[in-house]
Amino acid sequence: MNHNSNWIEKAKKEVAKAAIKHVEDGFIVGLGSGSTLAYAIKELGEKIKKEKIDIWGIPSSYQAFLLATKYGIKITTFEEHPIINLTIDGADQIDPQLNLIKGMGGAFTREKIVASASKINIIIADENKKVTNLGDGDHPVPIEVLPFALSLVKNQIELIGGKIVIREGTGKVGPVITDNGNAIIDASFGVIKNPKELNKKLKLITGVIETGLFIDSTDIVYLGKPTHIEKIEKK
Ligand code: A5P
Repeated sequence: MNHNSNWIEKAKKEVAKAAIKHVEDGFIVGLGSGSTLAYAIKELGEKIKKEKIDIWGIPSSYQAFLLATKYGIKITTFEEHPIINLTIDGADQIDPQLNLIKGMGGAFTREKIVASASKINIIIADENKKVTNLGDGDHPVPIEVLPFALSLVKNQIELIGGKIVIREGTGKVGPVITDNGNAIIDASFGVIKNPKELNKKLKLITGVIETGLFIDSTDIVYLGKPTHIEKIEKK
């Protein structure tokens, strides 16, 4: 591990701790996915044990489900608890309006569903995730697609200017298959000046299940820096 990745891992732990402080006894907590969330789920498990509080989690992925059960967090469903008090999740890019690109871990569809059911959404990330515009560095937008419609959706995304890569799996040959049994297209649009509009256009393509553009859903961001944490609240 080099010097740079050392502070990043420490920063991820610190932002996880900051977010978990928002959890109160009796809360239904939405559990995001990714490497930063892995710290948060562990931290939440420890808080539950230490403070003997009653918490139920709704995981956004198989990864989050396995971690939650490993750290003793009880699992519930939308059937039992349709309203989530607080969701904690990571992000791949965060713009100044707190719009996000998510989904490099492939869990964004359920993450967006969990976020949509949540009264408060907290995002935790290291400061490398902060950008001026979504799409900076030609960062792609992940798009979950029904496999039956893959080539049709691919053509439609190209027509609106996207450069397409069908995400490959690791540990197997062929495309990655999400927790929902679908494929993922990573589409680059360069700098995204109007993420809300792009999200709308993508969602209108038949066969698109969901996009990794999270618009207007974030309330608080904890950004981990080499020396401290920055808290950014929605204006
Ligand atoms: C999972 O699909 C993603 O949305 C993650 O939340 C995002 O990729 C951040 O992951 P890391 O915390 O591992 O950077």
